Amino acid sequence: TGAHLQGQKRPAAIEGETLLLPAEVSIVLPTFNEAENIPPLIRALGTALQGIAWEAIIVDDNSPDGTAEVARKIGRMDPRVRVIQRFGRRGLSGASIEGMLSSSAPFVAVMDADLQHDETLLPKMLELIRAGDTDLVVASRKAEGGAVGDGLSKIRAWGSNIANSLAQKLLHVTLTDPMSGFFMIRRERVEEIAPKLSVQGFKILLDIVSTAKGTLRTKEVPFTFRERQHGESKLDTLVTFDYFGLLLAKYFGNVISIRFLMFGMVGASGLFVHLLALRLFLVMGETSFNFAQTAASFVAMTSNFVLNNQLTYRDRRLHGLDALIGLLTFYAVCSVGVLANVGVANLIYLDPSYWWFAGAAGAIMGAVWNYAASSALTWRK
Ligand code: GDD
Ligand code: MN
Repeated sequence: TGAHLQGQKRPAAIEGETLLLPAEVSIVLPTFNEAENIPPLIRALGTALQGIAWEAIIVDDNSPDGTAEVARKIGRMDPRVRVIQRFGRRGLSGASIEGMLSSSAPFVAVMDADLQHDETLLPKMLELIRAGDTDLVVASRKAEGGAVGDGLSKIRAWGSNIANSLAQKLLHVTLTDPMSGFFMIRRERVEEIAPKLSVQGFKILLDIVSTAKGTLRTKEVPFTFRERQHGESKLDTLVTFDYFGLLLAKYFGNVISIRFLMFGMVGASGLFVHLLALRLFLVMGETSFNFAQTAASFVAMTSNFVLNNQLTYRDRRLHGLDALIGLLTFYAVCSVGVLANVGVANLIYLDPSYWWFAGAAGAIMGAVWNYAASSALTWRK
C-alpha cells in the first residue's frame, strides 16, 4: 500500500506503473495566467521525470485566462495532475505554501509554471535530497555554472543583485540566490515552519530559509534562467516593495507583523507626500497656511490610502465603489487618529524637555489607531 512505501526503498518504477505509486515528489506550480504554458510544461515534466513517481499540483489564483480549467482538462487524462483553484486570494508565496501543504509526498518542489525554470534539473535535485543529508536543494542562478541567461532584463538583474546582498547581510542567509523560486524541500520541514511563513509577496524561499534559522541542511545546483515564451511576468514594483517589507520584518524578528510594518512604511511615505504637497500649495497658491496644511493632509491621506490598498492590503484590495467608500472611511479613521495622537501627546507632555517623548508616543498611538481601525473598517474581511 501507499503508506508502507513512505520512506522505504521504492520499487523501481517503469513508465506507466508510476501512475499507480503514491508520489515521491510533488511539483508545486503556482500560476496566474499561464494557460498557454501548462500543457507544454506538463509534457516536459513527464519527459524529465520518467521512472519517478511524481505529481504536479497547480495552484491557480482563479486566473482570468482559464489556467485552472486547462490544467483540469489534463488532470482528467492524467491523474498525476491536480489543481487547487483559489478565490479571492493572490500571491506567489501563499500559493506555494498551500500547494506544498496539500502534498503527502516526502519531497516537494516549487517551480515557476512559465517554463523559465529548467525541469530537467528535477531528477538531480531529487537524488540529492533522497540521500538523506539534505533538507533543501535550491536551483541557483548565481552558483558556479548557473546564469540569469535571457530570463532577466538588465535592470532586474541589477535589482536582484542588490536584493540578494541585502538578504545576505541582514539575515545572514548564505544562499547564492535566495530569490530563486525553484527549490525542492522535505515536506515535513515545511510543515514545521508553515505557520510562521508570510503568504504575501514572492520571496517564499528567503522566508523559508530565514524562518528555519539555519536549521535546513542545504545544497545548491546551478541553473540557467530561461526566457519567458508566453504570457508576462507578474513581478512588479509592488512585489519589490513587499520584499523589503519581508526583509525588515524578518530582521526585526517578527515582533511586528509584516502588515503593520508595511502600513508604517506607507505612513512614512505619507509624511514626504504631505510636506511636498504643503510646499506646492504654499508656493503656488496665495493660500493661508491652515488651508494648505489641510489640503496637504488630504493629499497625503489619499496617497496613503492608494498605497495601502495596493500593498498593505493587496489581498483585500478594494475596487470601484468599494474603494471610494473605503477612501472615505479611511479619511474618518485618520482624522480620529490625529485626535488620538494629539490626545496622548498632551497627556504625556508634562515636562517640556521631554517634548520628543510625548510627540513620539502620540505619533505611535495615532499609527496604531489608524492601523487597527482601518483594518477593521476600511479593509475589513
Ligand atoms: N498562484 C499564483 N498567484 N501564482 C503566481 C502569482 C500569484 O499571485 N504571481 C505569480 N505567480 C506565478 C506565475 O504564474 C509563475 O508561474 C510564477 O509564479 C513566477 O511568476 P513570474 O511572474 O513569471 O515571475 P518572474 O519570472 O518575473 O520572477 C522569477 O524570478 C524571481 C527572481 O528574479 C520567479 O522565479 C520568482 O520566484 C523569483 O523571485
Ligand atoms: Mn517568470
